[in-house]
Amino acid sequence: MLVYTTNTGLIAHINDQKKTGFSLGFVPTMGALHKGHLSLVRQALAANNLVVVSIFVNPTQFNNSNDLNKYPQNLTKDVELLETLSKESIIVYAPTTEEIYGNQISADKFDFKGLELEMEGRSRPGHFNGVGTVVKRLFEIILPNRAYFGEKDFQQLQIIRKMVELTQLPVIIIGCSIEREFNGLAMSSRNSRLKTNEFDKSALIYKTLQTVQTKFKNHSIQTIYEWVENQFSNQPLFELDYFQISEVESLTAIKKKSIKKTYRAFIAVFVRDVRLIDNIDLN
Ligand code: PAF
Repeated sequence: MLVYTTNTGLIAHINDQKKTGFSLGFVPTMGALHKGHLSLVRQALAANNLVVVSIFVNPTQFNNSNDLNKYPQNLTKDVELLETLSKESIIVYAPTTEEIYGNQISADKFDFKGLELEMEGRSRPGHFNGVGTVVKRLFEIILPNRAYFGEKDFQQLQIIRKMVELTQLPVIIIGCSIEREFNGLAMSSRNSRLKTNEFDKSALIYKTLQTVQTKFKNHSIQTIYEWVENQFSNQPLFELDYFQISEVESLTAIKKKSIKKTYRAFIAVFVRDVRLIDNIDLN
């Protein structure tokens, strides 16, 4: 499998492959690949002639240096995993920080029309400027026809859609459903940092969301919030960072349902210093 660490090598390879009707898929990642990423790559392979998978731990989207330093990294293992899907139709782009940022490691400022102020934006100030900066730069380098993002990071997916709408970059954004561990926990690179008992008990996160989905039909929003807070308040292993029921376009929290709108429930939970997020469709 070809692994490029510079833009010039990558771009030359892509240009070489381009012919009429050629379609380029792109799966941006921070490495530590798991089945969730592989499912994005599989979907990209099914719809495109060539797929670029970027592996880059983006420093500007971490507001907590501890989280950045502990982020799992293993390029050799990632490449081996991707090779199980295809050796010829996938190329890996694993740039250095200098290649993306030069000697100025800083994020651009975006106006995502309020999407960035909700949930993750509140808990991780500056996070979405970092995500927007790196994804925009990667889109500009790779020029993909389609880019694939997991719905586990649903807020990120909506923000990328907004960025593409505002910048008019010619890329189609595809949201892909959440892949789960056997116990329901949403797949995440961070899961590898959980001890066995923490992993087992973290099944509570998705179980809670499933019950929320049921309760949403006939309980008030207020009752659901109280119920979720209760679920976590008597669990010493967990610290609930936020729980929010939002309308999916604006991501703003709702107090009442309207029949014409679509809603999702979002949750972020700390298990020690490991922060886990998940969400579920409520309609
Ligand atoms: O979802 C991620 O892994 C990252 O936020 C992304 C999109 C690769 C940008 O660094």
